[in-house]
Amino acid sequence: MTATARHTGKTALVTGGSRGIGRAVSHRLAREDALVAVHYGHDLTAAERTVKEIQADGGRAFPVHAELGVPGDADTLWSAFDEALAEQEAPAGLDILVNNAGITVPRPIAQVTEADYDRVFAINTRAPFFIIQRGLDRLRDGGRIVNISSVATRLAFPPLVSYTMSKAALDHLTLSLAQELGPRGITVNAVAPGYTETEINPTLAVPEIRRRYSEASTFGRLGDPVDIADVVSFVASDDARWVTGQWIDASGGAHLGV
Ligand SMILES: NC(=O)c1ccc[n+]([C@@H]2O[C@H](COP(=O)([O-])OP(=O)(O)OC[C@H]3O[C@@H](n4cnc5c(N)ncnc54)[C@H](OP(=O)(O)O)[C@@H]3O)[C@@H](O)[C@H]2O)c1
Repeated sequence: MTATARHTGKTALVTGGSRGIGRAVSHRLAREDALVAVHYGHDLTAAERTVKEIQADGGRAFPVHAELGVPGDADTLWSAFDEALAEQEAPAGLDILVNNAGITVPRPIAQVTEADYDRVFAINTRAPFFIIQRGLDRLRDGGRIVNISSVATRLAFPPLVSYTMSKAALDHLTLSLAQELGPRGITVNAVAPGYTETEINPTLAVPEIRRRYSEASTFGRLGDPVDIADVVSFVASDDARWVTGQWIDASGGAHLGV
């Protein structure tokens, strides 16, 4: 546990908290004393591993299962969350919601099928929308919503067009909700990673692609999930109480200019 422990007394839900960026966010929030619900959709082993790692580090976490992108997903998620939280003998409700779970569709417009399009929107856009809608009575006043967007929404990036559209919609949801939820002291922000080393990017195994993506950052390297988690933890903290409706670049200065 760090000396700052800035999330003491807080309960957090991290969707897709089992792997990649969500795993790093779960670790970071737990290290700063939040009780963390580590959500996953398919990979129970990864979720259990993340929970065990957090516990071994002295933190508190528990897994929550719900497949997103299917009918009723938000209700399934919240029922599983409520039940698991009660088992922890923790008070109902939460303080920090991180909408992180996501998939990509690495195909240009000509190759995107209707099924691809529907699925990426169902998981990246529709799921967070209804998770927030049905979570608002659980989220305490003064709470935090952090939506994981992508640096791609500030760029033209044709190979990821449908994915980027799904994230751009999330950016607008962030802005609208920040206005609506301000009176409750709830902040809503988007954190936008760039090229980050996770399993969502299998092409990073290709040396040429790895080099190109690394060089896109002004720092000349890929993002580490921890780089994103540190920003999310700040946005989720009381230190960020005066920041809302913002799209926060966490891309290591990707594609800043020529
Ligand atoms: N990595 C990057 O370069 C990058 C860049 C910009 C933005 N992002 C965004 O960052 C977020 C996290 O990405 P990541 O790179 O960490 O991806 P990742 O390593 O592939 O992890 C994705 C997480 O989301 C969960 N998930 C995916 N589909 C799901 C579904 N249908 N239902 C429930 N859970 C589901 C996965 O759990 P299960 O496997 O158990 O389903 C996993 O925990 C995403 O929103 C992504 O768009 C990533």
